Amino acid sequence: MNPKPDVNTKILEVKGLKKYFPIRKGFFKKTVGQVKSVDGLNFFIEKGETLGLVGESGCGKTTTARSILRAIKPTEGEIWFQKSNKEMVDLNSLSNKKMRLLRGDMQMIFQDPFSSLNPRMNLLDLVGEPMLVNGLKNRKERSERVAELLRLVGLRPEYMQRFPHAFSGGQRQRIVIARALALNPRLVITDEPVSALDVSVQAQVLNLMMELQERLNLTYLFVAHDLSVIKHICNRVAVMYCGKIIETATTEDLFSTPKHPYTAALMSAVPVPDPRARFKMTPLEGEVPSPANPPSGCYFHPRCPHATEICLIEYPELKQVSDNHFVSCHRHDELQLAGVD
Ligand SMILES: Nc1ncnc2c1ncn2[C@@H]1O[C@H](COP(=O)(O)OP(=O)(O)OP(=O)(O)O)[C@@H](O)[C@H]1O
Ligand code: SF4
Ligand SMILES: [Mg+2]
Repeated sequence: MNPKPDVNTKILEVKGLKKYFPIRKGFFKKTVGQVKSVDGLNFFIEKGETLGLVGESGCGKTTTARSILRAIKPTEGEIWFQKSNKEMVDLNSLSNKKMRLLRGDMQMIFQDPFSSLNPRMNLLDLVGEPMLVNGLKNRKERSERVAELLRLVGLRPEYMQRFPHAFSGGQRQRIVIARALALNPRLVITDEPVSALDVSVQAQVLNLMMELQERLNLTYLFVAHDLSVIKHICNRVAVMYCGKIIETATTEDLFSTPKHPYTAALMSAVPVPDPRARFKMTPLEGEVPSPANPPSGCYFHPRCPHATEICLIEYPELKQVSDNHFVSCHRHDELQLAGVD
């Protein structure tokens, strides 16, 4: 884990973020309900840190990431981003034109390096494309910058004329990273960046991301469904369940003293470090609730071994329990939950 950043400034602050998708039925496609994929998130990211966003499949991680980048329009909420001149702007209220001017400052790295690279483009065009779109028309200058970026991610500049199929999964993810860095972003959002890779390669790509963070002063929002990867790379973690954040803490606190039964359950599924074992979580027992029809009270109550009467009736608000530690559980101060070292 990289040391805690010394610059104590927020680069991103999300307030009350919601993304609802309409459920339509019938011939006239009448709206009959809503999928509350992201339902009132509040969190921030400090400059230079890595915030992990973790939770089971369908809890709203990708929807959160895409809403921040305005790849989809949020239903409600504020997304405050600090520009390079230190001015804070609410991305959700910016016009498309103003948002385009900030595109270079924020980049996203996706899970699958196989489908995110156009197979008909060589590395020069793939990595150079963002620069071309941004007005760098001179091919020689572009190829010099591409060579520099390839070196930065541990690939040889001589590979520039080759096509993606000539590379392994790990190398392709390096190409994706080089492309994401082309316009000198300050905030990089990564959505499961290593989960499609072999375990031995995962560690190499994660180490590269940590090195690049130090060298280029990057801030990461790191989306994963797997706590073992999060533990390795993040300074702080936000745990999501059914469209809501249910616990946030520094990585150390979260792992040593989890306060939410769901976090503790995710942890008991963290595999022991074994180079031969896949980074795979044992699924938790019970059904993942649908964000179209969440349970009453605490959304986790049908799966929670500690649920009492109030848990079935009232949703527990996110409460501060110590300096950087927030939790949404009625019984957080009574329960003694086991963490991991
Ligand atoms: N365009 C859409 N229309 C309707 N529902 C959607 C849409 N996109 C996402 N959803 C729903 O929103 C919920 C959250 O989806 P999301 O992809 O954000 O989850 P996730 O946490 O990224 O899951 P995974 O770990 O599988 O990637 C899911 O129930 C999903 O079915
Ligand atoms: S509020 Fe109740 S059901 Fe929800 S996590 Fe806490 S103890 Fe379990
Ligand atoms: Mg996802």
